[in-house]
Amino acid sequence: MSQKLAINGGTPVRDTSVKPWPSVGNASGRMLGEEELANLRQVIESGSLNRYGGAMMVKQFEEAFAERMGVRHACAVTSGTAALHTAVGALRLEVGDEIITTTVTDMGTMIAILMQNCIPVCVDVDRRTMLMDTANIEEAITDRTRAIIVVHLFGQPVPMDEVMQIADKYGLYVIEDSAQAHDAQWDDKKVGTIGHLGCFSLQQSKQITTGDGGIVITNDDELADHVRLFSDKYYDRTGANRGVMRLGVNYRMTELQGAVALAQVRKMDAIIGNRRRTAGMLRERLAAIEGIIPPYVHPRATHSWWIFSFQIDQQKLGCTTAEFARALSAEGLPFGTGYAGGIPICCYPALKEHKAYGSGNFPWEPPYGRDVQYREEDYPETMWAQANTLVMSWNEGLTEDDVEDLARGVQKVADYFGSRA
Ligand SMILES: Cc1ncc(COP(=O)(O)O)c(C=O)c1O
Repeated sequence: MSQKLAINGGTPVRDTSVKPWPSVGNASGRMLGEEELANLRQVIESGSLNRYGGAMMVKQFEEAFAERMGVRHACAVTSGTAALHTAVGALRLEVGDEIITTTVTDMGTMIAILMQNCIPVCVDVDRRTMLMDTANIEEAITDRTRAIIVVHLFGQPVPMDEVMQIADKYGLYVIEDSAQAHDAQWDDKKVGTIGHLGCFSLQQSKQITTGDGGIVITNDDELADHVRLFSDKYYDRTGANRGVMRLGVNYRMTELQGAVALAQVRKMDAIIGNRRRTAGMLRERLAAIEGIIPPYVHPRATHSWWIFSFQIDQQKLGCTTAEFARALSAEGLPFGTGYAGGIPICCYPALKEHKAYGSGNFPWEPPYGRDVQYREEDYPETMWAQANTLVMSWNEGLTEDDVEDLARGVQKVADYFGSRA
């Protein structure tokens, strides 16, 4: 006998007014504490809040992050968007050059491309994971394509050997948008270290956080110079060049952010370890429930669980994903459907209507660039996955007890619909 669903007047699995979920939005789901406070105290007492003085927290953070990733260079900036913009800026592309990327990402990926007056060309995703389907990349390449930005969505890597093979064949740069995927791996390689440049976000919800913040990594000495210069107004602090050689921005991380970032990077084993342990437990539990499709993780991928996602077998359960989601929500489970508005990101008006700047269509117009169109119907897998993927923001504060509630809730709803099907 299935239990009465909360949506039909039954008792919810979790009364969130009594037992709220730990959240990345506050201390309950974050590992912020004495270590961050001690570093901040040092910065404040030094009186130097800019990265070029005092306690050198930003520099220490960059060194610690580079060491952890096993790369030669790391440059801390003010956000994940800033990291991506800096990475694109460091490539020194022409106006109207094209960058291939995915339909499912944060607007930051698009901003980085458009702010350098380049044109995003989005390819459809793998419906199981919502990751860019690498089989679609080659047909999107034109004589204006210069780079690929892969997005390791939800903490899961894109199959990077396929991406790198295509990039090598066509001479393209690869930027890894690892904003959601700190410490995720493809085989034994950490994401962000496989392409030419890797970008991370330290925004409030990310695996490690400074509220807002970001970092760019690379093993390429020349790109590293341009990353440093671009994000620091192209001021050459080595003194080798007099005056500013190109156009840059000021994305310098402050010592206040650096103090927190340094403490956070030292906690990454614990933070990501917790996320992996609890997500692994839930994945196992969901795999045992009739009609539930647990998150697909490629056998060569190591996930770092920014978002936990799963799908349902609608035929077996005799319900739609939207109905299932509504029932879960009434049980007190914090699952929603889709990501970033539920549509391909390139179908946001700014892109679809070519309204990046002023009232013209720049850069999607001659003589600058191509009139690339973005239509929902060109991305059927994205449309399906956005409507049929259940997502929950994951965090390091979740416990075995929370996993138990999540598994019980999904089981209850699946049993109910399954028994009627
Ligand atoms: C995939 C992806 N790219 C870029 C960004 C932009 O990062 P930020 O919000 O730190 O600017 C985010 C942030 O959510 C993201 O998830």
